[in-house]
Amino acid sequence: MNKLIKQTAMSLVLGLSLCSLSSLTLALPADFDAKMAARPAADKDRDAARHPKETVELLGIKEGATVVDVAAGGGWFTRVLSAAVGPKGKVIAQFGAFALRNNNGQAAKDLAAELGNVTPVFEGVDSIPADSVDAALTAQNPHDQFNNSEAAGQKFITDIFTVLKPGGMAVIIDHAGSEGADNKTLHRVTASATKALIQKAGFEVVQESKLLANPADDHSKGSHDASLGRATDQFLFVVRKPAKK
Ligand SMILES: C[S@@+](CC[C@H](N)C(=O)[O-])C[C@H]1O[C@@H](n2cnc3c(N)ncnc32)[C@H](O)[C@@H]1O
Repeated sequence: MNKLIKQTAMSLVLGLSLCSLSSLTLALPADFDAKMAARPAADKDRDAARHPKETVELLGIKEGATVVDVAAGGGWFTRVLSAAVGPKGKVIAQFGAFALRNNNGQAAKDLAAELGNVTPVFEGVDSIPADSVDAALTAQNPHDQFNNSEAAGQKFITDIFTVLKPGGMAVIIDHAGSEGADNKTLHRVTASATKALIQKAGFEVVQESKLLANPADDHSKGSHDASLGRATDQFLFVVRKPAKK
């Protein structure tokens, strides 16, 4: 009996240590909050609507990971991801070719020089080697491609699938639209149309998060409408490229 109690106690201790070990390895760098606090005020003003820390936690990235910010735009998430992977990690900030043709090209290079662990890419995601990155994030972008054509939307999502290592995770965020609405004019896309692209690309849907949901936005206004204060109702998919069997 004593032996049984001892064995049970040992298993409990082992289980608890494995739990704390796995939460340690999944933890964000110790200076994550300090780096987030050091961002420009204009970036921090958007935190209430964008929930950056919770978003990178959903993505599950670890210190030292390689992550791609797909269609990084002004680099808002690039700063967040840079803090999340730390100096031993790498953020590939993908801006696209057109970014070089306007002032964003220099701004992107300046951001990369400032952050140290960021590599700007001025080509498509398909210029990044296949199976090479641990994680990917794209925010407020799929609608641009999908509203051009379903094929462009599919390529956008499939390119993300291709660059991820097997087992790699992605977070896909966009301004939610309603079925039957003129989502092209409104700069939105429905969650269901995006989910179809995600599944056709080969991803497993891990979670459809309500983190960025905002019931005050009824999807009838354009996503840039000033009255929404950039706090649109957004869907957030956490997806995984299946691990190789
Ligand atoms: C609404 S912003 C979102 C930017 C960023 N993802 C974020 O969440 O802060 C959309 C951006 O996508 C960029 N964009 C549009 N088409 C693109 C493409 N094919 N490749 C890369 N970037 C693109 C535009 O320059 C614009 O800055």
